[in-house]
Amino acid sequence: MLVDVKEIQKVSNMFMNAIHEDEIELLNKLYDALKEGDRERADSLMDEFLQDVEEHFSTEEALMREAEFFAYPMHKQEHDMMRKEVARIHERWKESKDPQEVIKFLEEVFVPWLKLHVATMDSVTAIHIGD
Ligand SMILES: [Fe+2]
Ligand SMILES: [Fe+2]
Repeated sequence: MLVDVKEIQKVSNMFMNAIHEDEIELLNKLYDALKEGDRERADSLMDEFLQDVEEHFSTEEALMREAEFFAYPMHKQEHDMMRKEVARIHERWKESKDPQEVIKFLEEVFVPWLKLHVATMDSVTAIHIGD
């Protein structure tokens, strides 16, 4: 398992929590497929991951625009930086199909980022948006 759902902070918006929980479930499936060297399964899960991250971020951005959240540009900027990183690793995977490269990205880049992002940006955003 890559990350336990308990390691990701709960925010004060249930919809956002559900998005995070679903993402963690997908991350763990992807991680297991990569660890097992199941490239076919990992390949479709990589496509799902790219799509899931986009949905996660764009849903939060829509919620922020609706609530006219003051820190929208800052929050979106963090998303945009990670959108690029995820697109890059997705592209790398399609080229090399190297599980180690993606494992390293998930362990060292994506999960630490997600933990911090949820505990800071998402957490403040959820307080403003409410439940
Ligand atoms: Fe989030
Ligand atoms: Fe976010």
